[in-house]
Amino acid sequence: MSGASREVVLGVGAGIAAYKSCDLLRRLQDRGYSLTVVPTPSSLNFVGAATWAALSGRPVFTQMWENVHEVSHISIAQSADFILIAPATADLIARIAGGRADDLLTSLVLAAQTPILIVPAMHPSMWTAASTVANVALLRERGFTVMEPDVGRLTGSDSGQGRFPESAAIIELFDALTGHTQDLLGKRVLVTGGGTREAIDPVRFIGNRSSGKQALAIAKAAVLRGAHVHLIAANTDTSHLSGVEVTHVESAKEMGQALSLEFSTCDILVMAAAVADARPLHQYSEKIKKNQLDVIELEATPDLLASLSAIKTNQVMIGFAAETSELIASASAKLTAKGLDVIYVNDVSGGAIFGKDTTQGMIITRTGAHIALKEVSKDALANLLLDHAIRQLG
Ligand code: CTP
Repeated sequence: MSGASREVVLGVGAGIAAYKSCDLLRRLQDRGYSLTVVPTPSSLNFVGAATWAALSGRPVFTQMWENVHEVSHISIAQSADFILIAPATADLIARIAGGRADDLLTSLVLAAQTPILIVPAMHPSMWTAASTVANVALLRERGFTVMEPDVGRLTGSDSGQGRFPESAAIIELFDALTGHTQDLLGKRVLVTGGGTREAIDPVRFIGNRSSGKQALAIAKAAVLRGAHVHLIAANTDTSHLSGVEVTHVESAKEMGQALSLEFSTCDILVMAAAVADARPLHQYSEKIKKNQLDVIELEATPDLLASLSAIKTNQVMIGFAAETSELIASASAKLTAKGLDVIYVNDVSGGAIFGKDTTQGMIITRTGAHIALKEVSKDALANLLLDHAIRQLG
């Protein structure tokens, strides 16, 4: 699986272990993967489509007769980098082994060219039945990876081999199969995100529209690649982020202070925050009256990136720019002025990008390379930028 793309189809069969796949999905999302869930129709008796749609943040289809105009079985199969089927029942395994295409999941499996991991869960007597044994052997022969189910207590009083394995064991095998690289192991990545707020008085502030989503995506992607990650978050909800050290800040001044504590020990700085360019010259300690808002004198905030590149040692520095026109010229000028290795320029014409899960724009490197990106996920951009940083680190 390439660094840029981490699209996974999670196929869900009709086993009670379907509920455990909710945890699996969450853990894979935490590791930077984007998941499309394709449950079999009968699995919806255990976990409904609404749960999968809410957890994955994507629409959920089970049948060929839904969303026909998009030819879902082909489009989903083509966009996936990996297919994980968990849990897989004896019936689902039999249908896949037989080349059936009687629901959306089996159809897309038949059409897929990507690696497929099947995680069975069933009663031991079904797992050891001659037909299941033959079907599993056939699938393995054809290149599918079929995980061994765990041994232990089942839903009822019986025990034996057939239990759904622990999420951690599934993820370990998934990582091994995807060749997921820990190419940032031992590296420290410092990320800033969100938008600073510059107080006018205790109630009002000057702020901006940055949601912080891009920084969260970078932090997640860097964790997934083995880095120690510190996020300086300006007015951004980080409650869904795991494995990341977080400093919450409000203003450009606080962000500057947090950066000066962390910068010297980092290997890569990704400055995705929208730092306010100006702040009120005077901050009132009491709420002011509206007639005093007629004139608010401003002063420029210090350019945080420029001051860090003046003291940098070996850090790779990545900056962002949001432009509505002359993307390349404006961003290249910022890259030089701020001493950056790479800059990503968001094309924000028409208010696009803010708060969204996708972005479009251009990566520009110190060597003058331009890579145009049209409608990519913020997760994918995160990995592309980290790829560049790793190349710079040598
Ligand atoms: N940045 C910074 N310190 C500031 C303002 C911006 O470090 N006071 C960083 C941002 O985090 C971003 C990059 O500089 O990575 C470019 O930000 P942008 O606002 O596009 O650039 P400015 O230099 O503020 O230029 P403009 O006049 O276009 O706003």
